[in-house]
Amino acid sequence: MPAFSPKILVVQGTVRDGRNSIHPARYVTDRFQENGYDVELFDMKEHEIPPLTTPRYMSTDPHPDVDTFGKKVEAADSIVIVAPEYNHSIPGTLKNLLDHLYPEYEDTAFSYVTVSAGGFGGVRALSHLHDITLEFDAHPGPDLPVSNVGEVFDDDGTLIDETYEDAFEEFVEVVVEHAEQFAPSAVGATREADV
Ligand SMILES: Cc1cc2nc3c(=O)[nH]c(=O)nc-3n(C[C@H](O)[C@H](O)[C@H](O)COP(=O)(O)O)c2cc1C
Repeated sequence: MPAFSPKILVVQGTVRDGRNSIHPARYVTDRFQENGYDVELFDMKEHEIPPLTTPRYMSTDPHPDVDTFGKKVEAADSIVIVAPEYNHSIPGTLKNLLDHLYPEYEDTAFSYVTVSAGGFGGVRALSHLHDITLEFDAHPGPDLPVSNVGEVFDDDGTLIDETYEDAFEEFVEVVVEHAEQFAPSAVGATREADV
């Protein structure tokens, strides 16, 4: 068991038939698991997330799948969003999912795996994710842009571009380091040391 073990929630936010970004989502989840971390993948395709009517924190009767997502976010020390770029932004499905919550994200560490079919690794989606995270009063952190996703993973989700093995391994480490900075125990220790 690692010295610091954050609770990590990987969020995959596309439901498109034949989607590719599920591959890095599953791959990074497996890497956290293999390194001994407490990790869970929230795959939106396995849930029914309705279009936002009332945010969870304002609702007396939230949709059960939204409530499930809310509880997982509240329990997480670190959220890793896996998002492709759709038309220079993040997919609408992911934005709708994120918009259902608000106070639940406060002070949580965020990291990002962005994905594109071409050579830019979804960096415009990444820029929007930073803005969204800041609006949540959360903490934007490390990112791993994955370009040419169709050449990095095969159709079964096997990593075929070995150059990404080290990149994902390093990403796992920096995500945990970032989460540690904002974990309640670490923040408490820093504050004590400051006085
Ligand atoms: C609706 C749509 C819009 C896209 N727009 C962009 C874009 O603006 N920039 C880009 O680099 N790739 C774009 N792509 C390519 C995707 O990033 C790439 O196909 C990715 O695998 C899509 O994620 P998904 O497979 O999980 O649906 C777009 C793909 C779709 C389906």
